[in-house]
Amino acid sequence: MNVRDSEHIVAELTTKKNYCLTNSSREADLIIINTCSVREKPVSKLFSEIGKFNKTKKTDAKIGVCGCTASHLGAEIIKRAPAVNFVLGARNVSKISEIVDKNRAVEVDINHDESEFAFSNFRTSSYKSFINISIGCDKKCSFCIVPNTRGDEISIPLNLILDEVKKSVAMGAKEIFLLGQNVNNYGVRFSNPQLNKSLDFTDLLELVTAIDGVERVRFTSPHPLHMDDRFLEVFAKNPKICKSMHMPLQSGSTKILKSMKRGYSKEWFLNRAKKLRTLVPNVHITTDIIVGFPDETDEDFADTMEIIEKVRFEQIFSFKYSPRPFTTAIEFENVVPEEVASQRLTHLQKTHLNMLEEISALQKDKILKVYFEELRRDGMIAGRDESNFVVVVDGSEELLGKIKKVKIVNPRRVVLEGEIV
Ligand code: 5AD
Ligand code: SF4
Repeated sequence: MNVRDSEHIVAELTTKKNYCLTNSSREADLIIINTCSVREKPVSKLFSEIGKFNKTKKTDAKIGVCGCTASHLGAEIIKRAPAVNFVLGARNVSKISEIVDKNRAVEVDINHDESEFAFSNFRTSSYKSFINISIGCDKKCSFCIVPNTRGDEISIPLNLILDEVKKSVAMGAKEIFLLGQNVNNYGVRFSNPQLNKSLDFTDLLELVTAIDGVERVRFTSPHPLHMDDRFLEVFAKNPKICKSMHMPLQSGSTKILKSMKRGYSKEWFLNRAKKLRTLVPNVHITTDIIVGFPDETDEDFADTMEIIEKVRFEQIFSFKYSPRPFTTAIEFENVVPEEVASQRLTHLQKTHLNMLEEISALQKDKILKVYFEELRRDGMIAGRDESNFVVVVDGSEELLGKIKKVKIVNPRRVVLEGEIV
């Protein structure tokens, strides 16, 4: 979502304010740092980055801080780092072309409604288009700062989404990547209340895949709670939907899931994952896991490991719990000691690396359909198969933007090497 927000920022500044992109921060007239605040670490990194840019930038170059840390810290950023000219929150991207000319300005209103805002056009990739389908999040998981930085959830009207898809296809994109904090809750609330519940995410998937020229559709992030049977069945049957599903587990313990306010149990998650593997044998299931949440015992962590063994996720993004301001969990007792959380994280990651080696090895000699989108420096070209394996082959530019069948000859842990057949 931050990548897409950055694209919107560039689009607005290049079409409305005469800026152009540069690769060198030393030559820039404006440096924008787009930030995350989900965990503590990126927040502290922000201030060291500001310091670094401030030393090397042109004397009169401006620095702007955007994104979730901007929303969360607001004016405090300028107080702590007076080199910063403006602060623009994650829900205020549309105001970039106004704020850029003001000095010491702060725009972080999380009630600002950007759901009807049609941004100017800029995309980093001409092969794949990120398209927002909603803003904000209503879930209020007890560990998560996002509802506080991105505000309440509002779905973007269907006509705006479909127009963006058509525009992307006309520019040559074969793959559409739908984005939202909670994509499969689409349609629950629009700015215009008459639109509420007129269609859901599954309907949206069918409409997007029906557009001529769309060959692949991906999306992130869905919430396990909203994975009803119809959604999983359409996901399985529709050949244009890539067979890659992110299922953020967070914890395998029903007790911890409850205190995280995730809305599902260990059994529900396992049931959904099992149904998905049955309906779509080649599906890639990825997940997010937090270890060391308050009150997580060895037994709770064992529940998480049990789900990992059972589901055999193709990819896991795992984190140590990081207490965040404005969240209810910050008050929770029974804090897990740092060393225990670290040990659990290491154990989880080691176990998964071994699993990944087995998963990759199973791909040997398979024929995968790969969409090539990235030229690598070593004479290789990379793409993804529909279930999301990264595949590289020897090749040059003429393969970019093409979908080809590839035989896997050397499956490595994160990348599969193959030959075009
Ligand atoms: N501490 C650690 N990880 C977190 N995430 C969100 N909030 C926190 C937190 N306070 C993780 C979740 C989420 C992912 C984007 O970041 O796993 O799914
Ligand atoms: Fe955060 Fe939960 Fe919303 Fe995801 S669903 S953004 S974890 S509050």
